[in-house]
Amino acid sequence: MVYKGLIEKYRKFLPVNDTTPVISLYEGNTPLIKAKNFSLKIGINGEIYFKFEGMNPTGSFKDRGMTMAVSKAVEVGSKVIICASTGNTSASAAAYAARAGIKCVVLIPDGKVALGKLSQAVMHRAEVLEISGNFDDALNLAKELSGKYPITLVNSVNPYRIDGQKTAAYEICESLGEAPDYQFMPVGNAGNITAYWKGYKDYNKAEPSKYALPKMMGFQASGAAPIVEGHSIVKPETIATAIRIGNPASWKTAIEARSESNGVIDKVTDGEILEAYRIVAATEGIFCEPASASSVAGLIKYVKLGYFKNNKLGKAVCILTGHGLKDPDTAVYDNVVKPKKVKANMKDIIKGIIDVIEF
Ligand code: F0G
Repeated sequence: MVYKGLIEKYRKFLPVNDTTPVISLYEGNTPLIKAKNFSLKIGINGEIYFKFEGMNPTGSFKDRGMTMAVSKAVEVGSKVIICASTGNTSASAAAYAARAGIKCVVLIPDGKVALGKLSQAVMHRAEVLEISGNFDDALNLAKELSGKYPITLVNSVNPYRIDGQKTAAYEICESLGEAPDYQFMPVGNAGNITAYWKGYKDYNKAEPSKYALPKMMGFQASGAAPIVEGHSIVKPETIATAIRIGNPASWKTAIEARSESNGVIDKVTDGEILEAYRIVAATEGIFCEPASASSVAGLIKYVKLGYFKNNKLGKAVCILTGHGLKDPDTAVYDNVVKPKKVKANMKDIIKGIIDVIEF
């Protein structure tokens, strides 16, 4: 059957009916890539997979939730949607609003949204307001506006977002033929960890003998780790701007996912995030954005901590939530390597590549 997006594929698990207008860009169905080189590199005995959510139409997992949220908004006649965003939600909301022929308002924090994400929101003709505040301020304002005016909020406090996003857990179960032992993922506003846990529980309920429940391993950036610290962070800071959030809306359900699954929610430093970001790109050819790499940084941290008995991991999935092209500045200028400048002649070029060629 031709793939027509996750609403068509998982209809029976989603709150839609025959009259729901399906607004889709054929999101979902993303690759689960076995990461052999990476496993060897970190020296762990087990199967590691990367679920590359950067392959969604707008380059992040947000499209899974947005196809649901926008379809349901259109179903009830909404003409305008709104979101607060560190970038990816706004890119996705703007695209799906364009597809639906409705308007989109975006509130972004000042100065910290990656260039690719901003370019998407602008191209899809969203009304983009950069507020003098952070993501948490933006979300409070978006909630207030949607309460007072006929505007639909499409942040992950919208339950349809969670329903759409849980389908990624279904895909993982289907690809592996079972649930993984561990799932590693970034945690920002905490909607996605809530969604995955819901998805795994759905499959476990439907076929308990086939699908067990994984341990949920969530990672915040150390400068923006309210759940780990146990209190909200007034001025969250991290290079992983997508998860620069001090007061997650789905805090409670993230804690539930951790406790019910016997997992952990911990933090990783910006240095650990950038290291993981580079290793994934260099060992597997997968370019994810810095926030996504916090899942991998978490796995590396727990391997180093000796968390896995006899270094045996079983099957682990790291969620790579967004595409690296979203944030080219971090890749090229700030933290990885700058291109070498050489004169346009053979001698200088040979000098420049001497480390990678053998004569
Ligand atoms: N990874 C990426 C690439 C994200 O953009 C986000 C969140 C997360 C992880 C964390 O997911 O919030 O469900 O815990 N981005 C939101 C946004 C906040 O506005 O784009 P979460």
